[in-house]
Amino acid sequence: MKAVQMDQHGGPEVLQYRDIAEPVAGPGQLLVDVYAASANPGEVKVRKGLRPEFLTAGFPHTMGRDFSGVVRAVGAGVTAFKPGDAVFGVLPLGVEGTAAETIAVDATIAAMKPAALSHVDAVAQALTGLTALYSMEDAGAVAKGETVLIHGGAGGIGSYAVQYARHRGARVITTASAHNHEYVKRLGAHEAIDYHVDDFTRIGPVCDVVLDSIGGDVQRRSLSVLKPGGRLVIIAASTKDAEGVRADVTILRPIVKRDRRHLERIAELAVSGAVKSPQITLMKLAESVEAHRLLESGRLRGKIVFELR
Ligand SMILES: NC(=O)c1ccc[n+]([C@@H]2O[C@H](COP(=O)([O-])OP(=O)(O)OC[C@H]3O[C@@H](n4cnc5c(N)ncnc54)[C@H](OP(=O)(O)O)[C@@H]3O)[C@@H](O)[C@H]2O)c1
Repeated sequence: MKAVQMDQHGGPEVLQYRDIAEPVAGPGQLLVDVYAASANPGEVKVRKGLRPEFLTAGFPHTMGRDFSGVVRAVGAGVTAFKPGDAVFGVLPLGVEGTAAETIAVDATIAAMKPAALSHVDAVAQALTGLTALYSMEDAGAVAKGETVLIHGGAGGIGSYAVQYARHRGARVITTASAHNHEYVKRLGAHEAIDYHVDDFTRIGPVCDVVLDSIGGDVQRRSLSVLKPGGRLVIIAASTKDAEGVRADVTILRPIVKRDRRHLERIAELAVSGAVKSPQITLMKLAESVEAHRLLESGRLRGKIVFELR
């Protein structure tokens, strides 16, 4: 079977589309034929060697964090799924390996994929949805009537978070390049700020919650747009620069877990129409090098999804 692996850190060209042995489902595991997987910016950091904790088994390392597919077999002790079930999920934190035609995954990190949601849509909403739910529901506790600033509204996480914050009844402000303003407004943003020419801090301290998916200087400057009592939710690489600057706001760094309960919420929100898929760029697994180049541009709208079957 085919998979995308790397034998060393480096540029996109280290990614190899190659034949590897099929896995087997161990106790508590599912053997899943993958129909769709996505490319995530976090994987670029792993490829470059910036996240060594992901290389738990060393090289060769199989890429990919999320999947949607069909169960081919179940390991000992699995009762929640049976062969033929359509499932989707995200590998445990610190583990990669879904960029392959068939994978063995712990049943605990999978959820049933509703028939109304395609494999491509399920994977486009899996890691983005988990991140947005943990950030805005569990950590940020965004409430109706609150004002939320979402940085990078046109990105993978942003596309989900804008819709979800709007669904929770918030007033949504987002940063995006001008050519993405129509897109983010279609997703539900009330206001879009072109961060290239317009300093977002000009809005003043009007926000209850800021979602930071950018980091660096954006993270520190975001403090000034929070109301007293506001929450800065950080999912980007975290610096210490924002610490201790304002005693009247809370800084949150949610651990985005991979659990069935949240995946089921994602499925429910998708089926009800509350959250739709971001813009999707469909690619083949053999095009992973090109996918990483696109990710590295930092200008991708929505998600790259690999369609395998
Ligand atoms: N903590 C976690 O568990 C977790 C989970 C998932 C992801 N993440 C992290 O979250 C970050 C975002 O992920 P993603 O999938 O959304 O990335 P992405 O899809 O690659 O983001 C691309 C978007 O970023 C926007 N952007 C770039 N620079 C910006 C700036 N200065 N201000 C506002 N927008 C800017 C671009 O918007 P324009 O094209 O409009 O300029 C582009 O649409 C990554 O660092 C990722 O590693 C963390």
